[in-house]
Amino acid sequence: MTAPESFPEDLYQTLADFQQTHLLAWWDELNERERSELLAQIQRINFAQIQRLYTPDPSAKSEESPAQKAERATRPATVVRLEDRKSAPTESEKATAQGNQLLAAGRVGAILVAGGQGSRLGFSHPKGMYPIGPVKQTSLFQILVEQLRARARQAGQPISYFIMTSDATHEETVEYFQQHQNFGLSSDDLYFFKQGTMPAVDAESGQILLEQKHYIAVSPDGHGGMLAALKNNGMFDVMREKGIDTLYYHQVDNPTAIVCDPEFLGYHQNANAAVSVKVVSKRSPDEKMGVVCDVDQKTQIIEYSDLPDSIAEQTDEAGNLLHWAGSTAIHIFNRDFLEQIANDDARLPFHQANKKVPFIDASGSQVAPEEPNAIKFERFIFDVLPEADTVLVYETDRSREFNPVKNAEGQDSPRTAHEALNLIFSDWLQSCGVKLPADAIVEISPLFAVDETELKQKISVDTQFTSPLYLGE
Ligand code: UTP
Repeated sequence: MTAPESFPEDLYQTLADFQQTHLLAWWDELNERERSELLAQIQRINFAQIQRLYTPDPSAKSEESPAQKAERATRPATVVRLEDRKSAPTESEKATAQGNQLLAAGRVGAILVAGGQGSRLGFSHPKGMYPIGPVKQTSLFQILVEQLRARARQAGQPISYFIMTSDATHEETVEYFQQHQNFGLSSDDLYFFKQGTMPAVDAESGQILLEQKHYIAVSPDGHGGMLAALKNNGMFDVMREKGIDTLYYHQVDNPTAIVCDPEFLGYHQNANAAVSVKVVSKRSPDEKMGVVCDVDQKTQIIEYSDLPDSIAEQTDEAGNLLHWAGSTAIHIFNRDFLEQIANDDARLPFHQANKKVPFIDASGSQVAPEEPNAIKFERFIFDVLPEADTVLVYETDRSREFNPVKNAEGQDSPRTAHEALNLIFSDWLQSCGVKLPADAIVEISPLFAVDETELKQKISVDTQFTSPLYLGE
């Protein structure tokens, strides 16, 4: 077999060795631009890795399954419960002061992962552009950036924001920030870095799918792709140069995450942890959340789909769920810990997911499958947890801090996030003594007040407010 016209012979040999020459089925029909696009995509693929990862039936693997591992799950060792924090205000105040010191010393950076395709939400732009503010329809991105700016203002020190995008979100995200002057964030403090992609393979054959005759079906390589992306884009170097050693990590879909929460930072530092994870109490054993637990003395997150019902339902003597700690996907990472793992690529595993991926079949026709036909490969950032000597598990109040926008309707949807924001702001005002009508609609920009304490300094009890109410900078 020889390579088709103008295709590199050695690369063709690689395709042949890995049974992937079908990627060139339409080569002769392609124009020059299409050929160079396809060639560039092929050059970026690690075919040996794809072959290694492709397992048509993961249950046939000889290694222990996640469900078997879950049999040995115990409660995590290093935990700060919400009740404990409330009943020890001095300790919690000390932690907050410590976190504020870290911020004031410029040692904290924030990472926002915003490279996902947001397929469940079905919004035709990057999810961060979704309008979610109860009054002004402020976007997720704007709410989060304003929080970061408010925190930096309090600390008297800029905080760098490292925003991960992907091929699916990069251009529109960058343009959106430019159009809005980065929502007031200095360009010296804003870094976009793009994650990698992985090709999708046919579930039956392991052959890489073509989405178009000149374009391979690829998708972002999961939020765990962040490690390679930080490294390959020189972000660790930037952090080191700026003296940033502690990273607050959050996801673009949760507008109520407390960006760079000083108290969380303080507890993280006190625990001498390499990683901290914010958790909430699961609503029920079958709630679809990753569960934080220890297995063989290593704190880790077990995905809900890997947790057998019998284990999820286990309770202690008091009747409380044994595996109560649901992950909010809010973390603090020590930079040097992340860097170590990023330098040893094999330490973060890939997961397989069966998905519906449109493709070009052997006759050249477009197929839109109705059932999952393909395997996508993704890395999850929480797989770094078991690599850490100490992981702090820190409980927070769900209604205050965990209101993600995942689905178009129902639970974890724009409606629930919208309601949660409204409730948080109304509660703040009421705790300041402000009387609001029961159906008041309220939005408070973080630049007006980042929390209840700041709000108390800004408004007087006798101020009259009418709904809808927006308090901005
Ligand atoms: P999700 O796992 O909820 O995925 O991402 P998603 O892409 O937003 O939505 P679905 O599953 O397609 O409906 C959680 C967070 O991780 C980011 C997302 O942008 C979101 O902030 N993420 C996810 C990435 O940055 N890259 C990825 O490859 C996947």
